[in-house]
Amino acid sequence: TAEELHERAKTARTTLGDRLYILGHHYQKDEVIAYADVTGDSLQLSQIAGKQTADYIIFCGVHFMAETADILTTPEQAVILPDMRAGCSMADMANIDQTERAWAELQNLFGNTIVPLTYVNSTAAIKAFVGRNGGATVTSSNAEEMVKWALTQKQRMLFLPDQHLGRNTAVKLGIPLEQMAIWDPIKQKLELQCELEEVQVILWKGHCSVHMNFLPKHVANLRENEPDRSILVHPECTYEVVSASDFAGSTKYIIDMIGVSQPGSKWAIGTEMNLVNRLIADFPDRDIVSLNPFMCPCLTMNRIDLPHLTWALEELVAGKVINRIQVDEKTALEAKRALAKMM
Ligand code: 13P
Ligand code: SF4
Repeated sequence: TAEELHERAKTARTTLGDRLYILGHHYQKDEVIAYADVTGDSLQLSQIAGKQTADYIIFCGVHFMAETADILTTPEQAVILPDMRAGCSMADMANIDQTERAWAELQNLFGNTIVPLTYVNSTAAIKAFVGRNGGATVTSSNAEEMVKWALTQKQRMLFLPDQHLGRNTAVKLGIPLEQMAIWDPIKQKLELQCELEEVQVILWKGHCSVHMNFLPKHVANLRENEPDRSILVHPECTYEVVSASDFAGSTKYIIDMIGVSQPGSKWAIGTEMNLVNRLIADFPDRDIVSLNPFMCPCLTMNRIDLPHLTWALEELVAGKVINRIQVDEKTALEAKRALAKMM
């Protein structure tokens, strides 16, 4: 039963004491968040991971987050992902072969005028690619600053792998939509909306399947029927949704906005279901709904559950490290260069 599992998890957690630190992303289930020593957005968790001295770090999040934690911790520290199937479909949309091929073609087209940026929602290999080509990582809480930085380095940037965060950020900085080209990794083709020389931003054609579920019709519906409800979304939503919403920002931003809002205020939130449900529970005096009336779960985030966490904890107590995430030394070194620029 769930009670028995909680008992087992608590006993194992207590036995491991300071030797273990548990990180929990805001999209994790409540049954997992209950064991997190800290919760945060991607940037916060990376920063916290880098400062930990515990022997073991259990990352309750997805694969690319655990890789980042491994890169930022010492080789002696073991980073554990309780379920190896907890990947990220967006990160999987840019593999290293596709990226190297795209880069070669883009160098042909534009010469040495591009700096690559990658959203942290990408594999360690992509972060390493960006690091060895003079670029940096970005998260949803610093994308604006990082894109500004990129455009002081070179005339144009390649933004991997989320076209929506890239587009939403570039629009905020005043870059016209027509000057954003899209690289299609499947067709290996650049989709242009202006002359080649005018391109400022090249967006990798990737997306988050969870945030794609928030649609302009959801916004339009609310505007018509409940004009006093504020709309707050994650910038992984499309440009059409973000530009029609009232506020957009990282998971931390979303939590902070609700935290400082007035009791009685009305909100529709466009992000992952566990976070929306937690906000509804934590702020009962605010009127909060999901922007898509059918709640939108991230299936891979949800793979980390109490049974998997209990398994990881009990194996550690028995002296076994399961599901260790280890990035090879060369990749880690190059990826660290990209992460260091951001951090
Ligand atoms: P943040 O927590 O950085 O906003 O990222 C959201 C996300 O999709 C993580 O996969
Ligand atoms: Fe990846 Fe989207 Fe899930 Fe975040 S919410 S882990 S970007 S699939």
